[in-house]
Amino acid sequence: MTGPISGSSSEKYTHGHHSSVVAAHAVRRATEAAAFVLPRLKSPMRLLDFGCGPGTISNDLAEHLLPDGSLVGIDSSEVVIEQAREAAVEKGITNVKFEVNSIYETGYEAESFDAAYAHQVLQHLSEPVRALTETRRVLKPGGICAVREVDWGASALWPPDDRLIAFLDVYRRVAELNGGDAYAGRRLKQWFIEARFSDLTVTTSTWTFSDENGLKWWGEQWAERILHSDLAKRAVEYGIATENDLADISYGWLDWVQAEGAFFAFMQVEIVGVKA
Ligand SMILES: C[S@@+](CC[C@H](N)C(=O)[O-])C[C@H]1O[C@@H](n2cnc3c(N)ncnc32)[C@H](O)[C@@H]1O
Repeated sequence: MTGPISGSSSEKYTHGHHSSVVAAHAVRRATEAAAFVLPRLKSPMRLLDFGCGPGTISNDLAEHLLPDGSLVGIDSSEVVIEQAREAAVEKGITNVKFEVNSIYETGYEAESFDAAYAHQVLQHLSEPVRALTETRRVLKPGGICAVREVDWGASALWPPDDRLIAFLDVYRRVAELNGGDAYAGRRLKQWFIEARFSDLTVTTSTWTFSDENGLKWWGEQWAERILHSDLAKRAVEYGIATENDLADISYGWLDWVQAEGAFFAFMQVEIVGVKA
């Protein structure tokens, strides 16, 4: 999706839905992405997964909520919702429903969910507190909201490479001009306070790429995304990078995959809040 979505007329989803982006999101699983909240999610809860993307995490969560729980996954992009539906059918998961919808204004009844979950979504929104306020509205009293967001500002890269340092700068600036925040992780607690959630539990974990498979997967997907995804289009449109700069960055990622001692890690911030 490249156009504005409901919320702010200037808001754009940084990655867009190029196949390289959706494929990277479709490897995510609840055992990793929702580990911080899984023990609190149980049958017969009704769970809202907002910004669910291609739905691999949502489908895992729906299975986790069996026998009597269910999940509604929403995303503003029809492309990924269709993919999520197909994945559910393929896996024979029937306690899940995927809908094209925006978390800014879901239209769902107040107090109709026991829990809400979002993975790597608030960082892309220009009004994250408004999204959380809508989430709070649809939660029952005592319901929980669990969110996980990256903080690209807490990343560690080895070996140093000017092309990858340029990548981090391009990513941060495009995200900001799109209305989001690549350093969202550190702001999650503040956003939850502003949206009036209580009993906050904040934890962190990392994504670490160091073994051969991890390096190859992480480096090669960025080598492609920096050329073909909406991130690339916006970087050029905003005058942050030229196509040649992006090609350099792409080669930078490919060289990094082969570099001796290659390592990349960054922090993920996780929060669970309660609607009092
Ligand atoms: C980085 S992806 C994360 C997808 C999935 N949660 C995951 O971790 O694999 C962010 C998703 O949020 C969706 N999104 C952006 N703004 C939204 C909004 N206002 N309401 C619902 N979904 C939104 C995008 O279309 C995109 O699929």
